Amino acid sequence: MLTLSLIGIGCGDPEQLTRAAIRAINTADLVLIPRKGAAKSDLADLRRTICADVLTSDETAIAEFDLPVRDAGEADYRQGVDAWHDAVAATWSQTIARHLEGEGKVALLIWGDPSLYDSSLRIARRLDPLPKIEVVPGITSIQALCAAHALPLNDVGEPFLVTTGRRLRERGWPQGVDTVVVMLDGGTAFQSLDPTGLHIWWGAYLGMPDQILMSGRLADMGSRIVTARQEARERHGWIMDSYILKRRG
Ligand SMILES: C[S@@+](CC[C@H](N)C(=O)[O-])C[C@H]1O[C@@H](n2cnc3c(N)ncnc32)[C@H](O)[C@@H]1O
Repeated sequence: MLTLSLIGIGCGDPEQLTRAAIRAINTADLVLIPRKGAAKSDLADLRRTICADVLTSDETAIAEFDLPVRDAGEADYRQGVDAWHDAVAATWSQTIARHLEGEGKVALLIWGDPSLYDSSLRIARRLDPLPKIEVVPGITSIQALCAAHALPLNDVGEPFLVTTGRRLRERGWPQGVDTVVVMLDGGTAFQSLDPTGLHIWWGAYLGMPDQILMSGRLADMGSRIVTARQEARERHGWIMDSYILKRRG
């Protein structure tokens, strides 16, 4: 029987690794590390660093694989994602088969936590035969963002909503909430909103040496964040950022 352990590793700071994560990595026979192209090699580097730091036995094999690239040109977004999940599942299966003979424990180091904007659980359920699936929770980028700004996420007794940049741009401010967390924003979707009464808490490369934090009234900070984001992206070749918007009366 194959066990697949999806281990949340936090979102950039190796100190966010929990003791449960360290234990799960050490009990694996095989750790899979995805390569996402040269521009995002820092992300694979963090996973390599974690393995080098926490592995106490040389019984655990490490296998890197090239993550298939999603066809962004696919007309139907969901169909495109579906095909991509199939391709990733096939790549996992091939990589596992090269190292294990149908049984053992495979670990995947998942950015942040596997439950939040991550498809590993959906992909794992496509494997045939279906492995036993285990999850070790990790610190999410939302927690890292709130901690970095020392910000309580919800207002007293109030809900919040987590969404993507694309959805915020397409549908505007969501109904029924005054606090919105925005992730996966390839641009700066907050620019599509009327900034009156809105405050923003923005963070890029959270938990990493180059972490950038900016916050204030959206009307004052919006264009400054756009510039800082563009400069940082040019410097690194990639950027990962998230933000919280709050509507004040
Ligand atoms: C594919 S999702 C993965 C989320 C992850 N599973 C989690 O628990 O945070 C990637 C998005 O998470 C956010 N993110 C992840 N790590 C981040 C970091 N270190 N700094 C800022 N945002 C981050 C960004 O919004 C990014 O576009």
